[in-house]
Amino acid sequence: MNQPERGVKVGRNDLCPCGSGKKYKRCCQGVADVPRPKPHPQKPKIRLKSPLDVAGIRRAGRLVIDTLDLVESRLAPGITTDAINTWVHEYTLQHKGTPAPLGYRGYPKSVCTSVNEVICHGIPGPRVLQEGDIVNIDVTTILDGYYADANKTFFIGTPGPEARKIVAVAGQSLKEGMDMVRPGNTVGDIGWAIQKYAEGQGCSVVRDFVGHGVGFDFHEPPQIPHFGQRGQGVQLVPGMVFTIEPMINLGGHELIILEDQWTAVTRDRSLSAQFEQTILVTPEGWESLTPYPL
Ligand code: MF3
Ligand code: CO
Ligand code: CO
Repeated sequence: MNQPERGVKVGRNDLCPCGSGKKYKRCCQGVADVPRPKPHPQKPKIRLKSPLDVAGIRRAGRLVIDTLDLVESRLAPGITTDAINTWVHEYTLQHKGTPAPLGYRGYPKSVCTSVNEVICHGIPGPRVLQEGDIVNIDVTTILDGYYADANKTFFIGTPGPEARKIVAVAGQSLKEGMDMVRPGNTVGDIGWAIQKYAEGQGCSVVRDFVGHGVGFDFHEPPQIPHFGQRGQGVQLVPGMVFTIEPMINLGGHELIILEDQWTAVTRDRSLSAQFEQTILVTPEGWESLTPYPL
């Protein structure tokens, strides 16, 4: 499948877009149709990324992480979630990016801000953050046509024991999932590791939202459930790029969608936390294209 290079010019000394790992000038330069990597061997709808694509997603990912760092430096009791939206929107545009959420399936804002019992897709508004709250900031940025997606859950002021617990378990859940990523393992291995860890801590894993392929578009195949069975689902192969983004609840996994048709809250109103990174499958294992320590 040929796919336009989305505004990224291939230089003679750049990595060849065919995925060979060689320089363009030593590989496909002069070939009429610039080749693409082969599709996924089991699921041809999964579009593998070439080294040039990966470089583009990594640049978008750098902007996502810088945006999360900017938000973190300004978070404090008394600020509204609308203020966070303004920071993200303006910072993204200043760096020549586009906030992917704005207008996505009718979503009205440039970032998701999910407070306390909100699992995900909280819409920024007049809500004022209070001492002791937790807030997840989910940033997806398009840069030169490439998408990167990451989120973190932050404390407002000093957290109580429940906030501390759910944020720690959610962070470690992402790490447990990432550590399963290597060629030959499957999507099911990722979900299995997350579920085993999180439920072992007495928490629950949200079923209704999953990780996803990302890079050329906001949400691509495959889906990455954060629960499952070892060895089930599609095999991981080098060049796959997807998010892992476990949503972990202190109580039950069930959720309710509010009247706005977006905001997902825990049915029992228990705290929920989430961490997300965009992950590349490499020959050796994985690389985060939106790296931050866990
Ligand atoms: N960033 C979310 C994800 O991780 C999706 C948000 S969709 C939006 O997949 F429309 F709410 F922005
Ligand atoms: Co995502
Ligand atoms: Co996201």
